[in-house]
Amino acid sequence: MDNAHTGYDMSSTTVADLPMAPYTAQDVQEVEKLLHSLDEAVKQKSRSAFKVKKTRFSIANSKDGSYVDSWKMNDWDYKRRDLPTYARGLFTTRDEHKQPSIAVRGYDKFFNVNETPDTRWETIKERTQGPYEITLKENGCIIFVSGLADDTLLVCSKHSTGDRGDVELSHSRAGETALEKQLERLGKSKQDLARDLYARNITAVAELCDDSFEEHILAYGPENAGLYLHGINLNLPTFSTYPSILVQDYARQWGFIKTELMVIKDIDEVRSFLESVAETGAHDGRDVEGFVIRCRKSPKPNSMPYQDWFFKYKFEEPYLMYRQWRECTKALIHGRTPIVKKHKAITQEYLLYARNRIAADPELGRKYDQNHGIIQLRNDFLAYKQLNGADAANFGDLHSDAAKTNVTKDVIFVPISTIGCGKTTLAVALGHLFGYGHIQNDNIKGTKRPPRFTRMVLDELQTHTAVIADRNNAQRHERNQILTDVKNMHLNATMVALNFVHVDIDAIRAVTQERVFARGDNHQTIHASTESGKVVGIMEGFIQRFEPLDLSRAPDDGFDAVIDLSPTVGSRKNLETIVNQLHMLFPNLVKEVPSAEAMDTAVEAAIGEYAPALRHKIADRGKNPGPSLPPKQNQPAKQAGKKKPLEYIAVHVAAKDVNAELERAFRGQPAAASRFFRQLQQTRRVQPEFHVTLMHRASAKEHPELWAHYIKSHADAEAAATAAGSVSITPAEISKLEVQLERLVFDSQLMAIVVRLINKDISSQAEDGEIQEWTDWTCVNKVSHITVGTRNDSVKPKESNKLLTRWLDEGSTEKNGITDIVFEGKPILQGVVRGVLSR
Ligand code: GTP
Ligand code: MG
Repeated sequence: MDNAHTGYDMSSTTVADLPMAPYTAQDVQEVEKLLHSLDEAVKQKSRSAFKVKKTRFSIANSKDGSYVDSWKMNDWDYKRRDLPTYARGLFTTRDEHKQPSIAVRGYDKFFNVNETPDTRWETIKERTQGPYEITLKENGCIIFVSGLADDTLLVCSKHSTGDRGDVELSHSRAGETALEKQLERLGKSKQDLARDLYARNITAVAELCDDSFEEHILAYGPENAGLYLHGINLNLPTFSTYPSILVQDYARQWGFIKTELMVIKDIDEVRSFLESVAETGAHDGRDVEGFVIRCRKSPKPNSMPYQDWFFKYKFEEPYLMYRQWRECTKALIHGRTPIVKKHKAITQEYLLYARNRIAADPELGRKYDQNHGIIQLRNDFLAYKQLNGADAANFGDLHSDAAKTNVTKDVIFVPISTIGCGKTTLAVALGHLFGYGHIQNDNIKGTKRPPRFTRMVLDELQTHTAVIADRNNAQRHERNQILTDVKNMHLNATMVALNFVHVDIDAIRAVTQERVFARGDNHQTIHASTESGKVVGIMEGFIQRFEPLDLSRAPDDGFDAVIDLSPTVGSRKNLETIVNQLHMLFPNLVKEVPSAEAMDTAVEAAIGEYAPALRHKIADRGKNPGPSLPPKQNQPAKQAGKKKPLEYIAVHVAAKDVNAELERAFRGQPAAASRFFRQLQQTRRVQPEFHVTLMHRASAKEHPELWAHYIKSHADAEAAATAAGSVSITPAEISKLEVQLERLVFDSQLMAIVVRLINKDISSQAEDGEIQEWTDWTCVNKVSHITVGTRNDSVKPKESNKLLTRWLDEGSTEKNGITDIVFEGKPILQGVVRGVLSR
């Protein structure tokens, strides 16, 4: 931690400098009294009383077959003033003489700043006393360790221990296993530790941090997994805990991992430190969830003694969102896939912005990676969006007025309509007034129309601020399709329903039929003059199937705004409704309402001018809605000179480099660990070429934009190579990218290398001084990897993904048969991004 704040320097402390460890023996009567109150509370039925749950665990290894009782209270009850103890995590037992004792004592439950009257800053300042010991809030699971009278070591999770087959079992068991390992390294036994803990009347409180409990597995690999000792409590009803300096010393003696801490004497300094970390979201290059602050507090500083007391400082919004932005920005810089868990829409916008800024100024990315300019970039983005942090954190709620004010583009109008309501007329009129784009479903030919329709709508947004997705969307499944597909492909679009309210069906039928017959054959599919019988049937079908908008449930609750229109009032009136509503809903999209004359002209032009460029022939559709296809369409000639499609895109690494690193990695390993590798070598199952797959075309559906980006990058590289006179049959090099080898992971079926992609492109400059375009080499696999080899042909290389997912979830254990080996020094190999074509 930052030594500038450190009141006393831990590293230079010698044993002689250590303060005496506090000791107080248990008072049998006091414990008896506590147990009595707790037992009473267990029986208590009154609603106003606090609730306690008692659970008995037998101690398997204990000589006399004894037990411990766990006492569990509700989180919220800890805010009461009448509890017999505030210990969170409490186990009691009785010795052979039936004397009661506390076996395990957790910390007093502590609260976040401002969560209770005691944790308001003013109160903290008034009633607490330094030094303030600040530790990071680790996010493993808590483990209590103590000793019983018969030298049995008791290892508990928050509320349980032993073999009960419940969820926490694995926690206390995992804790015990970790403990056994650390003691073994020191040549000490569990009895030794139990005896010492018992003699001191203490509970050791540790955090078990291990791959299997962590989301980001690389952060707590085997080399730093284990029990982080963060506290030692006396086993007393009243909270009394060791100063951290003694906790660290105890960790050293018994092989625990030390919990880093920082000591600040002054409370104002504590506060400004915490707030500054909240602001940057970073501390010491680590992802910080919050801090625990340990100090002493008196209810009345002038007349009552101080007691040990903790509070916590957890980061909240918008800081959590800022933290996500920081992580995502770093992911961008390193070519990893940004993980966006919350605040999806605004984060996506932020990332677009950040990407452009970093592409324009590579120095920015370099500095950002060293934690400089994080706040600046964020503030620049907020200023550009004209948002403050809190609004940005609420941005996901597009129904909020703040969010709508900020809509200036990317609006998609989705009519909910039947035939002849005037969709196309309104779309053309809106085009006249505001230059909005217009995509007509009726103009699309061929199979799989819905996704292509959506794609065209989104493409139109590249050049227009808004677009009308001209289709009836009379049924909910059609609305669902467009809403979902748009969300998947373009997170930020604002979806506005143009809701033609269908109430007076007879009137609607009359008006729309009249219009459609007046239109005659002037339509792609509905040819009223020549196919009048069919047309009435089709129109009626739409009216019958019409499902009105229902905002109370999916999919219609996915609309960001709704404009109600009438199918019978005429397009001029409907246009005016739309314009007025847009001006109110999105004042920055429609800044002013056009004049009545302008609207007149727009509608007249729309009714007068529109004639479709395409004509479909209607086949007999039966129950199947939507226009069918003409038997033969003029297919564009672009299939000529057909090239093989791209199968996948990958970073290719030289085989000799990878083989050399594999040899090096296995050199120091015991024979058992390298057995599978030797087997692969001897059976010629080590791949002849190595690559990190960035994306396979099989996942194009899931990541259409990225796949399009890769196809384009590949095509551009090919075109450049051809222009330069290359005749190679190997696809052209797209870019260079460094690949860092992190770990080898294997089981009996296959072996893979977990890698990290190091994206240098963003900061490199071409020779002529031009900054190269940003390239985003995102790997869509959960874990970027190189498959080294598989046992035989029945095991496909892509099964690496399954192995690595399993490894992420479970880690490497004897039971799951997975082994992992860290590449010492994490070697970096030169890689080349290149496409691989289908065979
Ligand atoms: P489909 O594409 O068949 O589903 O119909 P649509 O909803 O796109 O309706 P469209 O805009 O094509 O309107 C149907 C016909 O009515 C067209 O010939 C329009 O020119 C005409 N029309 C539209 N609005 C009005 C109006 O306000 N008054 C009159 N008289 N005709 C209108
Ligand atoms: Mg139309």
